[in-house]
Order: sequence, then structure tokens, then C-alpha cells
Amino acid sequence: MPQSILRSARITLVPLSDEHLEHEVELDSDPEVMRYLGDGAARTREEVEQAHRRRIAVAARVPGLGFWAGFVGRCFVGWWILEPPEREDQGPVAGQAELGYRLLRRYWRRGLASEGGRELLRHGFEDLGLVRVFAETMAVNAASRATMASIGMDHVRTFHRRWQDPIPGTERGEIEYAITQDRWLAGRPPREAEPGR
Ligand SMILES: CC(C)(COP(=O)(O)OP(=O)(O)OC[C@H]1O[C@@H](n2cnc3c(N)ncnc32)[C@H](O)[C@@H]1OP(=O)(O)O)[C@@H](O)C(=O)NCCC(=O)NCCS
Repeated sequence: MPQSILRSARITLVPLSDEHLEHEVELDSDPEVMRYLGDGAARTREEVEQAHRRRIAVAARVPGLGFWAGFVGRCFVGWWILEPPEREDQGPVAGQAELGYRLLRRYWRRGLASEGGRELLRHGFEDLGLVRVFAETMAVNAASRATMASIGMDHVRTFHRRWQDPIPGTERGEIEYAITQDRWLAGRPPREAEPGR
């Protein structure tokens, strides 16, 4: 199944492609956006080009999964991802995906990350038949944690990874949040009755 185009109330999510590279450059060159990611520094254009190639490759690993570029009207607001687990401690690849998101700073605190995240959960569970979606971030990344909680994910564990260049906050570790398909189905708002019923 190729990656689908998805829509929420405000956001159109389209599979990430080469035409989105300039948006990724803008996003990753903001040090505030990158504060809790990797070495915590803004990326150079060359680094973003490398990251872009890795991002595009995600879609080829498991059909249906990958990165989505999000647009409100014609404006790029950020990207969302559902990617297969990469590390052994993340559990099996079959039936699972990791959720992520990264938005341009001028669109923060408008409910967009959670709106897109909810649509990716719906897509993952309803259309792709995933059984579990998890998300990871630094424990000190309050915005990311709050977004996970806001879309119904629960804290599963706090763990420590070895980083080459630890950044402030690394000592507090990483956290994993998750939601299973069963829990998602149980909390899903009922479908509106079809007209005439
Ligand atoms: C994390 C990020 C995507 C959140 O985007 P956003 O669009 O501002 O999030 P939303 O507006 O949907 O907010 C979702 C929830 O988080 C809360 N929240 C957002 N930013 C917050 C912050 N800085 N501190 C505390 N809570 C915060 C909101 O109040 C909301 O909670 P609610 O639904 O209970 O009211 C954005 O801050 C970002 O791009 N950060 C840089 C990249 C990054 O760290 N990505 C995650 C890496 S794993």
C-alpha cells in the first residue's frame, strides 16, 4: 500500500517528497526547533539534505509508513511521521510504528501537532491495521510529552541511551509513550449515524 494523502480538520498531510526539501531546511535551521533533537543544534543545509534522503527512505521500508508534510491551506506547517521500529528495545516491526512530529515555531501552540497526530493514529489503526503506536522524546521535552498525552498516549517507560554528545537534559533520560489499537478503539468517538438511519 503506498503512503496515503490524509486530511484532518485543518491539515492536509501529503507524503514527503523532494519538493518539500526547502521547507525541511527552514524547519531544521531553527535552533529552538532542534533544541531536544540529536546534538541540539540547528542543521546546516548539507545535513538537512542527508536527513531528507533518510526520511524519503523510510517510506520504502514498510509500505504505508513514512513522513508526511503538513499544509494548512498552502502553508507548510511541519512534518509528521509513522516509522517502523529501528532498535531492538522498541519491539517487533510487524504491527507497530513510532509517531513523531516537528513544526515550524510560528505554528506552535495552535493544536496542530496534536491534530495531525490524531489523524496519524486513526490512519495507523484504522487503515493500516497497526496494533501499537509509540513515541519517544527526551524527558525534558515538555511540548512533545504534552502532545503525546493530549492524543491519548500513556507513559510506558523512562530509559537512558548513550549519546556521543549529550545535551542539557540528557541526564533525565528518554521517555516512551504508547497507545494500543484496543485502547484507541475504546476511546474513539462514535461515528456519526449515516443520513436516513
Ligand atoms: C512538540 C511540538 C511538535 C508541539 O507542537 P504544537 O503544535 O505546539 O502542539 P499542540 O499545540 O498540538 O499542543 C499539544 C498539547 O501540548 C501542550 N503543549 C504544547 N507546547 C507545550 C509546551 N511548550 N509546554 C507544555 N505543554 C505544551 C498543549 O497545551 C497541548 O495540550 P492540551 O491538548 O492538553 O491542551 C512543537 O513544540 C515542536 O515542533 N517542537 C520541536 C520539535 C520537537 O521537539 N519534536 C518532538 C520530538 S520527539
